[in-house]
Amino acid sequence: MNGLAWMFGAVSLVGAGAVALADPVEDTLVLNGETEIVTRTAAPEHLDGVFDEVISGWLYREDETRVMQADDFDNPGMIFAELARDAWSVAEGSEGKSCADCHGEPEDMAEVRPHYPKWNEEAGEVRTLEMQINACREDQMGAEPWKYNGGDMVNMTALLSSVSRGLPVSVAIDGPAQSTWEQGKEMYYTRYGQLELACANCHEDNNGRMIRADHLSQGHINGFPTYRLKNTKLNAVQDRFKGCVRDTRAETFAPGSPEFVALELYVASRGNGLSVEGPSVRN
Ligand code: HEC
Ligand code: HEC
Repeated sequence: MNGLAWMFGAVSLVGAGAVALADPVEDTLVLNGETEIVTRTAAPEHLDGVFDEVISGWLYREDETRVMQADDFDNPGMIFAELARDAWSVAEGSEGKSCADCHGEPEDMAEVRPHYPKWNEEAGEVRTLEMQINACREDQMGAEPWKYNGGDMVNMTALLSSVSRGLPVSVAIDGPAQSTWEQGKEMYYTRYGQLELACANCHEDNNGRMIRADHLSQGHINGFPTYRLKNTKLNAVQDRFKGCVRDTRAETFAPGSPEFVALELYVASRGNGLSVEGPSVRN
């Protein structure tokens, strides 16, 4: 039995008619009755021949889960963004500076999240938001870096995402970022683990199907970080990658590793055009 058959259950793949295919719902997401979120849009050019449309994971979730995300008072992820808002103006490190001292209000950072991961010229590397935040902590503040996928960090990425909600994801994939992007793309199509499954086998070939009572989406990251009802906490994007790789019964890469940074750039670019919607709510 190959990996997909195992995952979906041997029977369902034998009789094609038995495969549960459920379309994403038709629904619109308007946050707090005012911010319109683009949850489906024309696929970016580099996905020609793969998808006509890219669709947010939000449209694959149950009614109650979708409703929770539509109002900041109901979205548990916003509690963590608010914790980061407090941390934003706390001075730390040898320079005695806070984020606020150099960056003003979190809202002044609205143009940042949609472009990450992003090439940093001085460092000569593609940086995720987490890497940039830690670069500021170490180089600008003289403070200890936060754990890459730890609570302080995921809260801060939630805050920086929340102020960008409604803006289109637009990561650059050309120029100096291109080779990293190519690396991420190759990973996306590489079969991992005992089950020999690539990201694409699930999120491209089988999105819309039910897999162990879960509705398989296109696997975009415009909603990260994500509050998951399953573990009742905010989940960093690379922790989600880790979980998905583990589901193929493979050894996984570490959050913050060059491999996952490349994969994040590539996966982000598949969602170019969808709105930033983090912190989102998922199951
Ligand atoms: C002493 C000043 C200073 C402090 C304090 C500081 N930063 Fe920065 N930050 C900078 C500078 C300068 C840049 C621009 C670097 C660049 O563009 O290469 C930057 C860039 C950034 C960016 C990327 C912006 C972009 O457009 O790509 C983010 C995100 C960021 N900082 C977050 C933070 C956070 C969060 C904190 C607090 C934990 C913080 N910074 C603290 C000076 C600071
Ligand atoms: C065996 C099938 C399978 C494989 C292989 C797989 N995933 Fe997933 N993934 C899932 C399921 C099931 C979910 C939860 C339902 C959903 O959101 O699609 C999920 C969720 C996600 C999400 C969250 C989407 C959202 O809107 O919250 C992302 C991002 C993701 N996967 C990325 C990846 C990446 C990157 C890879 C390759 C390293 C991968 N997945 C491999 C099954 C898989």
